[in-house]
Amino acid sequence: MEGNQIWDYIGPELQQVRELVRASLSSDIRLLNQTNDNLLQHSGKMVRPVLALLVAKACSQGIVTPDTLLFACAAELMHNATLLHDDVADNSPVRRGQPTVMSILGGRASVLLGDFWLVKAVERILQARNNAEAAVRIFAATLSDLAEGEMLQLQKAETLDATENDYYRIIYNKTASLFEAAAATAAMSVGASTAYRKAVKTYAVQLGTAFQIRDDILDVTGGAALGKPTGQDLLERKMTLPLLGALANCPARSAEIRELLREIPDRPTNREAILGFIREHDGLVYAERKLEGYRDMAVFALRELPEGPAREALAALADFIVKREK
Ligand code: IPE
Ligand code: IPE
Ligand code: MG
Ligand code: MG
Repeated sequence: MEGNQIWDYIGPELQQVRELVRASLSSDIRLLNQTNDNLLQHSGKMVRPVLALLVAKACSQGIVTPDTLLFACAAELMHNATLLHDDVADNSPVRRGQPTVMSILGGRASVLLGDFWLVKAVERILQARNNAEAAVRIFAATLSDLAEGEMLQLQKAETLDATENDYYRIIYNKTASLFEAAAATAAMSVGASTAYRKAVKTYAVQLGTAFQIRDDILDVTGGAALGKPTGQDLLERKMTLPLLGALANCPARSAEIRELLREIPDRPTNREAILGFIREHDGLVYAERKLEGYRDMAVFALRELPEGPAREALAALADFIVKREK
């Protein structure tokens, strides 16, 4: 199955999730409504609902329940909430090719709007006919992971001593944990067996890890399709896998590179030197190799699921994520 066919396969259900997301956000406050309309006009890839729908189908021979749609909607609302917060944390001017809420209305509005989307996510989960409490518990754990991941990332931007293990902890917390929650609740929504639930959680964690590694590679390699600024991670002093890979390949220059990174707020041109170091010492090659390893582990976890189009689409999703340009 090819990338586009994944979206075709779950098209009608994904449309229902989109409508649920839109309906979740209505308000009689004009500023809130207008801002949400703008955001919805430029929605993202919807990878988390796609994951949820495919998981539900893979565990149930093609069935999706109303609860699946609610949990998938909650995952997308929560994801957008974290982006509204993240753009404040990262001081980011552009997302999805559009100016961020943060750049138009300021950090306060972006944080408040993120809170609104977050609460709407919780409301959707609570509407589930079955397992609402268990789903709240799963998503609550993810939100706690997210906050911890973002804080650990900030801490490491000060100490600049992140190891590759720290990096994986950060990206599990800030990205893979939500993939895991989306998959776990989707499996629950169709009454999947314990063995299936375990398999899809493993798949989703590997997939989410690959997704963030790809994001971190794209921050270095850039590309017009991305719709958000590149080269930002170094400016934020984030030690992502391309840099950690180059450091692993050339430990002798570790102290010097960390010093360049430390000075970045005062000397933004240090970024070019660090990017040069990443290229010279194959940091991207290193990160791509790991990325493919996570893709392979994700696909391997699918062997526990019944064969069929949903399982094929999950494998194709892993491949899509590894190759994506946006
Ligand atoms: C961006 O997520 C944040 C990361 C976890 C890397 P997406 O790339 O899924 O964002 P949209 O929703 O498609 O814009
Ligand atoms: C992912 O990290 C952030 C969240 C999970 C909210 P990034 O900071 O790399 O995401 P982008 O690059 O801004 O989308
Ligand atoms: Mg960011
Ligand atoms: Mg990024």
